[in-house]
Amino acid sequence: MVSIRESIHGEWSSRWAFILAATGSAVGLGNIWKFPYITGENGGGAFVLVYLACILVIGVPIMMAEIMLGRRGRQSPINTMRDLSIEAGHSTHWQYLGWLGVIAGFLILSYYSVIAGWAIAYIMRASSGVFTDASVEVIKNEFVSLVGDPEKLIAWHTLFMVMTMVVVARGVQGGLEKAVKFLMPSLFIILILLVGYSMQNGEFNMAVKFLFTPDFEALFYKTDAQGNQYMSWNAVLIAMGHAFFTLSLGMGAIMVYGSYLPAGTSIAKTTFMIALADTVVALLAGLAIFPIVFANNLEPGSGPGLIFNTLPFAFGHMDGGIIFGTLFFILLTFAAWSSSISLIEPAVAWLVENVKISRAKAAILMGLACWGMGLLTVFSFNIWSDLKPLEDIKIFKDATIFDLLDYLTANIMLPLGGLLIAIFSVWIMSREASMEELDMGDRIGFKLWRFLVRYITPIAVIIVFLNVLGIVTFK
Ligand code: PHE
Repeated sequence: MVSIRESIHGEWSSRWAFILAATGSAVGLGNIWKFPYITGENGGGAFVLVYLACILVIGVPIMMAEIMLGRRGRQSPINTMRDLSIEAGHSTHWQYLGWLGVIAGFLILSYYSVIAGWAIAYIMRASSGVFTDASVEVIKNEFVSLVGDPEKLIAWHTLFMVMTMVVVARGVQGGLEKAVKFLMPSLFIILILLVGYSMQNGEFNMAVKFLFTPDFEALFYKTDAQGNQYMSWNAVLIAMGHAFFTLSLGMGAIMVYGSYLPAGTSIAKTTFMIALADTVVALLAGLAIFPIVFANNLEPGSGPGLIFNTLPFAFGHMDGGIIFGTLFFILLTFAAWSSSISLIEPAVAWLVENVKISRAKAAILMGLACWGMGLLTVFSFNIWSDLKPLEDIKIFKDATIFDLLDYLTANIMLPLGGLLIAIFSVWIMSREASMEELDMGDRIGFKLWRFLVRYITPIAVIIVFLNVLGIVTFK
């Protein structure tokens, strides 16, 4: 018997159900919307290389640690951390790690829902045929008119938040398991189709060169408003932060999913499958988008609108584009949906455990709060688009409220949460407990995991943090 506790929220019906749900959490807007645009903003190849390295040496070990902690604690991350720290004979202050995650999830979902709303809006546009034979300008204008209209954004944001609340209210097995089973493979197929289109009709070689030829100058050197070049490690922090974001790590989503995992499932193997699927989807998205960017002289660093300005062009010019385009945005919406539910699950599980309200009530409460917070993001694309709260700080000179929220959560809160999870798993929890839960024996795999989580993750996260803060510099 590996774990002595039982979850009051139920369990996944099988190992595969967990893999699908965790993959559903990992694969989302982060892969298809965010990865391409931040890669474009940070110069391509070198950024991708750092990102892939972070997935391998930080993301995979931390995901194993999160699943392990979740399955051992069998509760919401807050209570799991409390009980596991008691078990290890340490201060229950570790429960604040759970709180950090709950707050991060709340902030992320507030803007995630607004962007998912764009995807829903694009289902309508794609199906009505507005992209058919449209020029790059027409497609750009469509996007500008959507984000410029707070009413439309609020309407779609509301719809998406309601969808999220409904699924979370229904619980672990209710519906979601089934939906994800069908959706994930379909998304995969459509992406491959899009890559096929881009291969034939876009500048595919340029895109491959952009994504896979590392240019470290482009990663480290930025230009300020006066045109002076300066060196910054900010892009490395963004790549690392994205590794956490895309794998849903550092805030308890994977931990809480792990708490519903049946005993006896190999944590290492499942983690590899999830990380691999997530990475492949991100790279396919890049290979679908950048050939179109280069073929049409679009700007790779044009920001959050990138996929909405490129993919509709491809759909508008291919056979069956209306069907494929509609299908693509439906799947993107579903990918976002299976991620958004994991963003509030830690908070909802805690409310059910500690405040003793029903799952449905907890889901509605959290959903309403996130909805309200989301209005900040809605307005940062239109009526407050000139508001740059931290413009005196060089790296934030152009950052809107949305940009700052994204930066704070993905680049600071998630890596910080990951750092604390790493410290807890190998410095606080006993070696025997983690060995028992990971169930790999005392072999090379377990030793490697411990080494990475003990030294590499903490050191990497701390160095990058200190560097961006300007405390440690390299020349
Ligand atoms: N991994 C999700 C994505 O890539 C986002 C997410 C982050 C979900 C953190 C849960 C927790 O879209």
